[in-house]
Amino acid sequence: MLLRATFAFALHALHLVTANPLKRQSSPKAVYAHFMVGIVENFSVADWVGEMQTAKAIGIDGFALNCAPPRVDSYTPKQLANAYAAATQVGGFTVFPSLDFAYWNNGDTGTIIQLLQNYSSLPSQARYNGRPIISTFVGEYFDWAAVKPTVNVFAIPNLEDPAQVNSLSTSFDGAFSWYAWPTDGGNSIKVGPMDTTWDDKFVTNLRNAGKGQIYMMPVSPWFSTHFNSKNWVFIAEQLITDRWPQVLSIKPELVELVTWNDFGESHYISDSEPTHSDDGSSVWANGYPHAGWRIITQAYIAAYKSGASAPVVNSDQLVYWYRAFPKNTVCTGDTLGPPNGINLLQDLIFVTTLVTSPATLTVTSGSFAPVTINVPAGVTTHNFTMGIGSQTFVLSRNGVQLAGGVGGMRTSNTCTIYNFNAYVGSFGTGSTISTSATASSSTRVSSSTVVSSSTRASSSVSSASSSRITSPPVSSSSRTSASASSSQTCGTGCTITASSQIFPTNCLQPGCVWQGPAGQGTPDHCDTGGKPSCTA
Ligand SMILES: *[C@@H]1O[C@H](CO)[C@@H](O)[C@H](O)[C@H]1NC(C)=O
Ligand SMILES: *[C@@H]1O[C@H](CO)[C@@H](O)[C@H](O)[C@H]1NC(C)=O
Ligand SMILES: *[C@@H]1O[C@H](CO)[C@@H](O)[C@H](O)[C@H]1NC(C)=O
Repeated sequence: MLLRATFAFALHALHLVTANPLKRQSSPKAVYAHFMVGIVENFSVADWVGEMQTAKAIGIDGFALNCAPPRVDSYTPKQLANAYAAATQVGGFTVFPSLDFAYWNNGDTGTIIQLLQNYSSLPSQARYNGRPIISTFVGEYFDWAAVKPTVNVFAIPNLEDPAQVNSLSTSFDGAFSWYAWPTDGGNSIKVGPMDTTWDDKFVTNLRNAGKGQIYMMPVSPWFSTHFNSKNWVFIAEQLITDRWPQVLSIKPELVELVTWNDFGESHYISDSEPTHSDDGSSVWANGYPHAGWRIITQAYIAAYKSGASAPVVNSDQLVYWYRAFPKNTVCTGDTLGPPNGINLLQDLIFVTTLVTSPATLTVTSGSFAPVTINVPAGVTTHNFTMGIGSQTFVLSRNGVQLAGGVGGMRTSNTCTIYNFNAYVGSFGTGSTISTSATASSSTRVSSSTVVSSSTRASSSVSSASSSRITSPPVSSSSRTSASASSSQTCGTGCTITASSQIFPTNCLQPGCVWQGPAGQGTPDHCDTGGKPSCTA
């Protein structure tokens, strides 16, 4: 049955190509959100339905299901089955596997084919031009030609380097970039704002390849993480409204939101998931709602899908976000130390106004005097010097208050742990999104457990998120040892670690030689795509 269905799809695709040799069929634009299956071991179908309804409500078309192979997470098949069933129940919402190649490897062809045979003909499978989508995190060296005779997938792997569009012959149909934050590659941290350097290279290389391969562009609102195996921030202060206009301008075929529920890297836009497993990230994610970012995301998703150059605003709202303390505050109960990159942050309060016509915004931060500015119609983001204490926001027009109130978290000049996550809230009559603090049921753990819980995260096979970003494609055995030492030794007098790759671009340590893709120079190719190594 499954094989026959697949064969029918292959014929269908062939027919389209033959009938329209000069006109490529293209699916409508769609927005998917990266969902960490590795933290929802015990999700029920009802849990999945709840998540999907929340996502669908803002125009998200489906989830990219980040998962490890069954030999790593035994519950992967069960939770994929739950997700496909839930999506069918929700309707108008689809899913596709996003294989996390920190865990999968090139020897997994048989399991990948089995996975596709299990799920890819289900009605809730996301498709592009009729073909079932599959994607990856890293894993760009996997050859889809080995899969396509059995299941004619539309493969959109994560390419770690746009040069790979030309150098790889792995039968991919599109490229997904993970460069959603300001970086020169290799997790190097640089000052914002985000630009489209990486996207432009992907788009140009894909177009020049002339094979009709598509681009799936990443969009993320934030990045901060505080495990012992990875402890840094990317400079993502006004990223959400810096990034989305880039999407409206580039008009990629697909968008992937990074992420829906990765609490470990603080770029979730879901509500809290009380039933998810805690890899230690509850320390910085509990009590830090991000729902307000969905209001902004919703406006931009609609604009992206309609091809508009700016979002349309139907009601007056404001979304605010800020960190808990100034960046130079010394935290008293944290043995891990401050995250790398925080020196490039600014101590600011951020407010996005979504207004139907010009209005005024007044922000009172701590003991500072109120600051009032004029804001134009549409969606714009403004920042204000962070004061200590309560934060008050008032949106008005012609002297009449439209929306406002006191922010849900006070800033402080003391701290226990180095939490650089953002508290996000909103005010406005148009908001149907709850932004109350949504602490999960798991209790906030004391700071003394930060190190032990993150140690657990880096060694646990079930914590897919803990080795994200830092991990080039490696076998599970070398992953474990790399995580255990939390650094890659690469020659006498020379060590590359995620944390040593900080601004200015210095993924090449003194005395090291870049051995990435031939013919490419730093800083553009200071990344992990070409398996970096260096010699003293
Ligand atoms: C596919 O389905 C079979 C039969 O139900 C199951 O044993 C297997 O674990 C599934 N594999 C994956 C990768 O989903
Ligand atoms: C999931 O449920 C099993 C069985 O009750 C339990 O052993 C396990 O700890 C649970 N996992 C999480 C992450 O809650
Ligand atoms: C704060 O706002 C100013 C004025 O709009 C802008 O130039 C600056 O880039 C903003 N800061 C950040 C960190 O985005």
